[in-house]
Amino acid sequence: MCGIVGYVGNETCHEIIIGSLERLEYRGYDSSGIATIHNDQIQLRRAVGKLSDLKTKILDEPVSGTIGIGHIRWATHGGVTEQNAHPHLVNSEVAIVHNGIIENYAQLKKELAEKGFSFSSDTDSEVLAHLFAFVIGQGLAPVEALKAVLSKIEGAYSFAVISKSYPETLMVARNASPLAIGISDNATIIASDATAMAHLTRQVIYLKDNDYAVITPTKVDIYDVKNKPANRQVIKVNVSPILLDKAGYKHYMEKEIHEQPDAISHTISAMTDIHGRLSTNLEAASLTKIRGIVLLAAGTSFYAAQIGRYWIERLAGIPVVCEIASEYHYRNPIASHQTTAIVISQSGESIDSLLAIRHAKKMGLDTYGIVNVVSSTISREVDKILPTRAGPEIGVASTKAFTAQLVVLMSLAISLGRQNGRLDEDKALDIHQKLLKIPGAAGKSMKLFNSVLPIANRLKNARSCLFLGRDTLFPLACEGALKLKELSYIHAEGFASGEMKHGPIALLEEGLPVISFVSEDEIAPKAISNLKEAEARGGYIIVIGTQSAVNTIDFASDKIIIPDCEPILTPIVSAIPAQILAYLTASEKGTDIDQPRNLAKSVTVE
Ligand code: M6R
Repeated sequence: MCGIVGYVGNETCHEIIIGSLERLEYRGYDSSGIATIHNDQIQLRRAVGKLSDLKTKILDEPVSGTIGIGHIRWATHGGVTEQNAHPHLVNSEVAIVHNGIIENYAQLKKELAEKGFSFSSDTDSEVLAHLFAFVIGQGLAPVEALKAVLSKIEGAYSFAVISKSYPETLMVARNASPLAIGISDNATIIASDATAMAHLTRQVIYLKDNDYAVITPTKVDIYDVKNKPANRQVIKVNVSPILLDKAGYKHYMEKEIHEQPDAISHTISAMTDIHGRLSTNLEAASLTKIRGIVLLAAGTSFYAAQIGRYWIERLAGIPVVCEIASEYHYRNPIASHQTTAIVISQSGESIDSLLAIRHAKKMGLDTYGIVNVVSSTISREVDKILPTRAGPEIGVASTKAFTAQLVVLMSLAISLGRQNGRLDEDKALDIHQKLLKIPGAAGKSMKLFNSVLPIANRLKNARSCLFLGRDTLFPLACEGALKLKELSYIHAEGFASGEMKHGPIALLEEGLPVISFVSEDEIAPKAISNLKEAEARGGYIIVIGTQSAVNTIDFASDKIIIPDCEPILTPIVSAIPAQILAYLTASEKGTDIDQPRNLAKSVTVE
């Protein structure tokens, strides 16, 4: 998974391309590169490492030109080397940038090698560059060249190509990987998403799967899968460039943790109907149709799904299963008892989640998406979106999108329960009133940065940690462990507290950090006695809960006290100290918080 950018227009473009790549760093940051055409020559610069390494290179060896392409890479085929970085340049004639995977690259590589082409990288993408060099070398004009290459390749891709033979033309195409075309007065820009061009234009065309386009400074000609000219709508997107700054915080993650009071309250507002009731705003007929749900998601969004399952089953009595998106369609699920598939995704671009929801659609299920990026591919493909209003999330570790997803899931549980009569209006109103206090509780939670710091300091030297919780706090324990491991590289696992004694307790040894979420509900005494078992075996016990929930746990070495909140809503408030703990532990260790190693914000490869 990678990010691609292209520009053709009137201005010298390398800085514009770099500016857009900066906004795509969430898609990967192993290496980056740029190619422009200047004085009839393709100028290529590539660098391993962060975008700053490419910028330094360009300072040392400047480029120029009013047409160019850029790439930021998350390695799939081939290691992190300059040779494997994009753009790939062939015969000084053609340069390409590609996001996705060319699945039949091995066969194509063999055929091209037999024709005498020699390869300089280990990537699947380089075959694209050779294919274009070949067909353009045979005299094909851009449209014909695209048609010829697309007839040969299989897989998921979005790509952009420049050629010395057509120094004012960008050639682009997409299938399953996102691609947006931005239209401004003096230029056309293409990028993996609209955010990457938010500083340049809001007028965007989204190509459909199998579309391709030939773009010059004055024209965008789009063709569909049948090679017929296609009319794709220009959409005005709503992405504010101001939202993408760090606003004085050291990291995007720190900023995004602090944005949660707003993210939660905006999402509650979006989930309020004209009568002022908490609601998904789905019509009665749509709600009545939902009799069984499959929730599809990956990573943090999957843990939100698992918490949502408890809520929907409890408040609406509707059966829910949660499926890891990457597993779903490959195991031919039996969905006869389900009517509705709901995919949860911050980015709306995770390919696993996209393929899972497409499969559900193919099976005839109604499809909904709980999505943060409303201009994303998933948003466009589901029957209906239930948007989270978290705003752009740039830090690789998901924070505000997660708590906003929980708000939507609670609203869905309430809407469904109210509709099928399982939840009376008073109870629904009671939860709504308590939910309205959560933004305030989230605001107060920001004070935890001070009290959690000494704990993070102790944690930074741990080799391994356990996170525990019962009921809705079990998925939260998994989310806490995911946050810690992805940011601080400390091995961490989340378990259901009651499951410890069935095996994981063997891991316990003197000083092993055991972080437990507790709530003030009927199951709390059981969670506390499971924790006592860990303490008896030398665990370093840290508890997270309200003052009254943790009051009796006198054997804990550290307590993180969250603001008072209703037990059913505890996962939303308790998520914040888990994020802060992971953030501060990583900060104390000195790891790269916004761009942890080996990760990318949005995973668009299988
Ligand atoms: O954009 P999505 O919600 O579909 O992303 C799913 C996961 O890739 C994502 O939540 C990932 O696990 C985060 N790095 C977690 O912080």
